[in-house]
Amino acid sequence: MTKILLIGITGQVGQELQRTLTSLGEVIGVGRQELDLSQSEKIHQLISEIKPDVIVNAAAYTAVDKAESEPDLAMAINASAPKEMALAAQEIGATLLHISTDYVFNGKSHTPYLETDQTDPLGVYGKSKLLGEVGVRENCDRHIILRTAWVYGARGHGNFVKTMLRLGAERTELKVVADQIGSPTWSYDIATAITQLLTKSRDDSDINGIYHFTNSGVASWYDLAVASFAEARKLGFPLKIEQVLPITTAEFPTPTDRPAYSVLSKTKITAVLNNYPPNWSDSLRKMLKDWKNMT
Ligand SMILES: NC(=O)c1ccc[n+]([C@@H]2O[C@H](COP(=O)([O-])OP(=O)(O)OC[C@H]3O[C@@H](n4cnc5c(N)ncnc54)[C@H](OP(=O)(O)O)[C@@H]3O)[C@@H](O)[C@H]2O)c1
Repeated sequence: MTKILLIGITGQVGQELQRTLTSLGEVIGVGRQELDLSQSEKIHQLISEIKPDVIVNAAAYTAVDKAESEPDLAMAINASAPKEMALAAQEIGATLLHISTDYVFNGKSHTPYLETDQTDPLGVYGKSKLLGEVGVRENCDRHIILRTAWVYGARGHGNFVKTMLRLGAERTELKVVADQIGSPTWSYDIATAITQLLTKSRDDSDINGIYHFTNSGVASWYDLAVASFAEARKLGFPLKIEQVLPITTAEFPTPTDRPAYSVLSKTKITAVLNNYPPNWSDSLRKMLKDWKNMT
């Protein structure tokens, strides 16, 4: 039976992976308590003890703005830790699946980013994630790097959709950035795509490399907020919101720049998995139903 070590069980994607990966084999999930990724020497020890066939790293330092004032911690978790995982995986011949981000790009493109496009991260978070990719690529032969973007989900940590619904329950008017474009992506769909890739990798070692995966379609944060309110209202979420006003990024300054255009091409993963990612608005509806059932 395939033994899978899942790192980052409390995160949005980690929570979903705990469910989807069981179709592949025995899942041994670890969180920060069992493995603190800022202490890299523990990583090698744990992997050598468990000797998994597959390691899935769903953990990361994801506080994009805070990373600017905590660069050492962001680098330790996002760059040094994945490299340690890769070195340990290589020693035991394991496959390492690592999750990365659209923030490795500068967002100046006007067409969906390909896996082969030039990277150019804008801030500490993106730089740390890019170094993590390099550490994985250079140190583990059997690796898959899945870049995703604009993640939200019912389980795990907070996210844009949950924040909007909390604010929409308190206020009648909200201003939301409308000049950043991406593909909102449900954590469950990411977990499903990862499980499908890993299933495929059991018979096909040529599957190694970088993949882009998001839900299909594009939206601004403003579009996502408006759609979240419309769907949530249909499902009976308590909302006071009456008006959502589109604003520019310049009107909502943050400690670090964000890519203006974050759309990732799904051509490569669609060809490998033989199915196109679900549309973001269909997945948003499913996530909200899932969340509603949980509360
Ligand atoms: N969120 C997005 O919009 C987005 C966009 C593009 C790519 N991604 C990538 O997708 C992946 C999953 O993201 P997510 O949204 O699921 O992240 P998340 O919900 O913020 O979860 C992050 C996970 O990392 C763990 N973690 C953080 N610091 C740790 C440490 N020192 N030791 C051990 N575990 C630690 C967290 O544990 P605790 O619960 O203990 O904090 C949590 O399990 C990441 O690689 C991220 O970079 C995310």
